[in-house]
Amino acid sequence: MLYCIILQELQSNLQCLGLHFRAASRRDWCVMTSPHNKIRPLALAKWLYCVAAMVVLIVVVGGITRLTESGLSITQWQPVTGVLPPLDEATWLTEYDKYRATPEFIYEAGPAGMTLADFKFIFFWEWFHRLMGRLIGLAFALPLMWFWVRGAIPKGYTPRLIALLALGGLQGVFGWLMVRSGLSGQMTDVSHFWLSIHLLTALFTLGGLIWTALDLRNLAADPGSRPARLTGISALVAAVLFVQLLLGAWVAGLNAGHASYDWPLMNGRLVPEVDLRQGWLWALTHDPYLLHFLHRWWAWIAVAALIWLARKVRHIDRRASVAIHSAFGIQILLGIATVMTGVALWLAVAHQLFGALLVAATAWGMHVAGVPSTQHDARKAHS
Ligand code: HEM
Repeated sequence: MLYCIILQELQSNLQCLGLHFRAASRRDWCVMTSPHNKIRPLALAKWLYCVAAMVVLIVVVGGITRLTESGLSITQWQPVTGVLPPLDEATWLTEYDKYRATPEFIYEAGPAGMTLADFKFIFFWEWFHRLMGRLIGLAFALPLMWFWVRGAIPKGYTPRLIALLALGGLQGVFGWLMVRSGLSGQMTDVSHFWLSIHLLTALFTLGGLIWTALDLRNLAADPGSRPARLTGISALVAAVLFVQLLLGAWVAGLNAGHASYDWPLMNGRLVPEVDLRQGWLWALTHDPYLLHFLHRWWAWIAVAALIWLARKVRHIDRRASVAIHSAFGIQILLGIATVMTGVALWLAVAHQLFGALLVAATAWGMHVAGVPSTQHDARKAHS
């Protein structure tokens, strides 16, 4: 207590000298600075935002890896030794030989005339993508340990942070299972099911990081605040967006962007011809024309749901509403441009980037909707 009083005195003296701190109540000040209470919610929130930014970046690199057909260039999973790329010509040739034995090389890259230099290019993207995965793992695990050891994690948050770490580890496993699905039989690409699991797990982790960071930020502003809860509206919006993301991942995994280069019609028709020889269930999960059609039109249902959410939160935090509107607006335009340019690489990558940013913005809006109104009032009074 004496320590707190001394620090408050120091604060007011510095204010007299013209150095202003944000006004904090004696209670908050003591909660945040007392040597007996080492919890650091704001530091944790900032760290989680940084990790979230890294996840957005790896999603972009993942998009480049997929669109440059680089994903199958490394045929093994070596979490530790794989950090180093081949460093001499002999090792490059060994890696190239392994790739030459894959169906992708035999049926596609080889006949298309791939050279060792081309191989080095695709190897780089897959290697860089995996390296970023490792770096994110370290950027999460090491500070987590440090915060834990120092007792800086607020009560109730440790299991959530460990769950996020586990999701990251699982993502590495899913990534490898995805690659493995493309190395057997006659496969010249990875399975679109594994691709969607890999992409959606990344996006779910991103949403979890943002949500937890926002909870911690609120806790820093108001030590009495409770974590946000998932409201019914938010769950519905998340479900609608999930369908759109899943359809998008399947379109990407099946190269179904190439099913049509016109918009709003598809090859001059409103509804494309669907291959029903193996039934509706097969068509709904495999037919590139049907999935492309569903993705481009379900987008409007997703937009309606997102507008609904944005309107709900507009009066509480206008910035979240603006973020949602901007993200889906740009995402729709990028989707249409991707189609009309015949899946131009940078547009498709930008579409993947804004897909991730839209998830982050939606998580923000859902979080705002899930914070009790009394807490919003307290936070506003505090800031
Ligand atoms: C809320 C709206 C939308 C969301 C959240 C969304 C999300 C996604 C996601 C997550 C993917 C997979 C990865 C990637 O981005 O390449 C994807 C792929 C794709 N989307 Fe969308 N999308 C939306 C709207 C649209 C629209 C309106 C169109 C076209 C009219 C479109 C066309 C495409 C195409 C062609 C691909 C495959 C691109 C590729 O192969 O890389 N999307 N979308």
